[in-house]
Amino acid sequence: MRAGLKEALQAVLSYQDEMSWQQGRSARWGRRQSHRDAYGDIIGKCSQMQELYRLLDKVSATDSTVLVLGENGTGKELVARAIHEHSARKDQPFVVQNCSAFNDNLLDSELFGHARGAFTGAVKSKKGLFELADGGTFFLDEIGDMSPALQVKLLRILQEGTFIPVGSTQTQKVDVRIVAATQRDLKEMLRQGQFREDLYYRVNVVSVALPPLRERLADVPLLVDHFLDCHAEPKRKIRLSSACRQRLAEYHWPGNVRELENEIERVLVLQSGADEIDEDTLSPRIRYHDYRPGGEGGPPTLTLPQAIARLERAMILDHLKRAQWNKTRAAVSLGISRRNLIRKVQSYQLERRRQSRD
Ligand SMILES: Nc1ncnc2c1ncn2[C@@H]1O[C@H](COP(=O)(O)OP(=O)(O)O)[C@@H](O)[C@H]1O
Ligand SMILES: [Mg+2]
Repeated sequence: MRAGLKEALQAVLSYQDEMSWQQGRSARWGRRQSHRDAYGDIIGKCSQMQELYRLLDKVSATDSTVLVLGENGTGKELVARAIHEHSARKDQPFVVQNCSAFNDNLLDSELFGHARGAFTGAVKSKKGLFELADGGTFFLDEIGDMSPALQVKLLRILQEGTFIPVGSTQTQKVDVRIVAATQRDLKEMLRQGQFREDLYYRVNVVSVALPPLRERLADVPLLVDHFLDCHAEPKRKIRLSSACRQRLAEYHWPGNVRELENEIERVLVLQSGADEIDEDTLSPRIRYHDYRPGGEGGPPTLTLPQAIARLERAMILDHLKRAQWNKTRAAVSLGISRRNLIRKVQSYQLERRRQSRD
């Protein structure tokens, strides 16, 4: 009896241990889940991205139509792909079509296919992308560029899952989840009668808005490292100088993540064998970017004296390099005296920099 009690007690204790371990684990797991650096291929850890990931978790688990909104280069296609890959359809096709890529007739036959003889040159019937996407996800990019006639066809797919290929009389049925994207203001297009209201509400069941990169500059270093990893030659560890990183972190990125990715690819091409990339390799618009106007781009980050000093330093360095470090020539092209230039070179410690590089 006593032994039985002891055993039972031990069982309870170990059960409690197990529970508290499990709880601890799920709390740790929860913390990890609630703060992520990436979601599929989407990189970012700022609070807007955390919110985005939580929303993507929810929409991925459903079949509902999603409208992805955001400026060019904010990752709309990446989001569509992540939704597909986190959904039950992940082993089925993921098909992409940009609605502004073709004229109306071509887009019609691309999306819905055509029957033999539908138009001159249609010697064979052809399957459309909707048919190829059956069972999977269709990412329709730039949906705001669809003509009114195609908007009607799309509405029918969304409502009934049916369509009629160009030149055919036969209705076909498909099971396709649609993720649409646009950088246009669909509500405004609606008011102007350019976008159908019924289609708007069908497409916009859930909308996912992507923040422009300038509103999440804190993620720039993470993205920079990600693109360095992606685009550097395998096994080469390439660093960016701290000045270079700083320029990248301060720029306002009007072209968003796409512009940042291109810039990293560009510096990797131009770095010519050095292990550390310096700010001089950056594109001039980024290197000389000193002043970010307020308003849309957020408040300016520099004081006036800081901005002037930065521009001065960058210009002096540029002119010195062009003059192959001949100070007399650089002073002439800068429009200042040689003595003044020497003073500034000393105060910005540019000479030391030259020696360390040559
Ligand atoms: N958050 C992100 N993390 C990693 N790469 C990104 C991110 N956002 C965009 N990109 C990359 O930037 C480029 C543009 O993204 P894309 O999805 O085509 O943008 P959009 O469709 O909004 O114009 C792609 O190469 C994509 O991989
Ligand atoms: Mg795109």
